[in-house]
Amino acid sequence: KRVAIFLSGGGSNMRALVEDMTGDHPARPCLVFSNRADAGGIAWARDRGIPTEVVDHRPFKGDRPAFEAEISARIAPHGPDIICLAGFMRQLTGGFTDLWTGRMINIHPSLLPKYKGLHTHARVLEAGDALHGCTVHEVTAALDDGPILGQATLKVAEGDTPDTLAARVLKLEHRLYPAVLRRFVAGDRTPVLIEG
Ligand code: GRF
Repeated sequence: KRVAIFLSGGGSNMRALVEDMTGDHPARPCLVFSNRADAGGIAWARDRGIPTEVVDHRPFKGDRPAFEAEISARIAPHGPDIICLAGFMRQLTGGFTDLWTGRMINIHPSLLPKYKGLHTHARVLEAGDALHGCTVHEVTAALDDGPILGQATLKVAEGDTPDTLAARVLKLEHRLYPAVLRRFVAGDRTPVLIEG
């Protein structure tokens, strides 16, 4: 199976996925895609000889379908079977997600369905939740929605700040995402549950 990974930043989740796709793992990374030419993950992928594509979203301002048509045109030659969104910070419309139903997954730093959207760690602290974590789910047209494929949990600690929480959740993401991708590629939809 050929896996395309979409990112907008440093790509630590992409790195975790790439470094797990070795040996008898039935999938391999075929592309790292970003909406930002300066994304750290693009440089890392290039250094590793992994094909990269960049489509800056800004020239398409407001015209999401045109942006998404360009994405489709640029990824097609790489023949991805699966798309992993990994810190990809642009919302995709149903026009794109419908093309990838059952073949596109995303990682989100909260225990969905709680805290969809941004600033999840601050919101968890604000709410005084005892439990936090991350979720991998199938991507649908609705933001941070879709069937849950795995979750990793941790206990919010006394004195946690959004930054300390984000760092601890990120480490769980790096364990959860590769584990979910292995099952997803094998067609196994049994949720992965990790207690951090
Ligand atoms: C992080 O906030 C992570 O929680 C979310 O995307 C952001 C960037 O992650 N999934 P990465 O280091 O670019 O993978």
